[in-house]
Amino acid sequence: MSPPRLTFAGVVGGYGTAAVVREVSGQVAPGEVLCVLGRNGTGKTTLMKLLMGYLPCWQGSVQLDGTAIEALATPARHALGISYCPQERPVFDDLSVRDNLTLMRPDRDLAPFADYFARFPILARRLEQHAGTLSGGEKKLLSLTRGLAEGQPVILLDEPSEGVQWENILHMAALIEERKAAGTALIVVEQNLAFAERIADHYLVMDQGRTVLVGPRGEIDRARLLVHLQV
Ligand SMILES: Nc1ncnc2c1ncn2[C@@H]1O[C@H](COP(=O)(O)OP(=O)(O)O)[C@@H](O)[C@H]1O
Ligand SMILES: [Mg+2]
Repeated sequence: MSPPRLTFAGVVGGYGTAAVVREVSGQVAPGEVLCVLGRNGTGKTTLMKLLMGYLPCWQGSVQLDGTAIEALATPARHALGISYCPQERPVFDDLSVRDNLTLMRPDRDLAPFADYFARFPILARRLEQHAGTLSGGEKKLLSLTRGLAEGQPVILLDEPSEGVQWENILHMAALIEERKAAGTALIVVEQNLAFAERIADHYLVMDQGRTVLVGPRGEIDRARLLVHLQV
């Protein structure tokens, strides 16, 4: 087994003075998906923001390949190899689809996106339109494409399937499988259990900011998951 690529331990953080994430720990190895599950409002997005540096860790550690990164700002974490596709406002609405994809690519080359355009032809058709004209689900396709195609060793996806039709969710699963095969480590927050079951190697289930269940997919059956997901 490969050593973990991204490790977090005892992470605490939140907004103002209120802790939302309370001592959450986990890890993900190259070629694996850690799926973070839990009801709405339980702190999954807050955990992603703590891992990416959008919020400061009040306690705990975050390590990338054994190097402490919890004190680094977001751009430094990105530069070290972590990409992030946020749940809310996943794309730049005022930029074209093309500019959303090529913003970080000085050559402006679209060739790296050919596989993505084959699965999501809407993106190729709308290249020159403002991303703000896309539907919520289409923005998620654009965000995932941008995030996966960056080719970074670690990718954080916060509810990539939200508002996406099932056919395209299956394309997302296939693209994530390709990244896994290339050795990428992914942490994926999800509400869609059917999608999570397709891509996950490990689960981390949160409730009220704490870890309530963690382990390999094969050792956690659906009934145990549902206890923590149903309202
Ligand atoms: N910007 C914010 N300011 C204050 N509280 C917030 C903010 N964002 C989220 N929260 C609160 O933190 C808790 C967890 O939110 P969040 O991490 O978004 O949960 P999840 O992603 O699991 O739905 C919720 O109670 C939410 O109201
Ligand atoms: Mg969320």
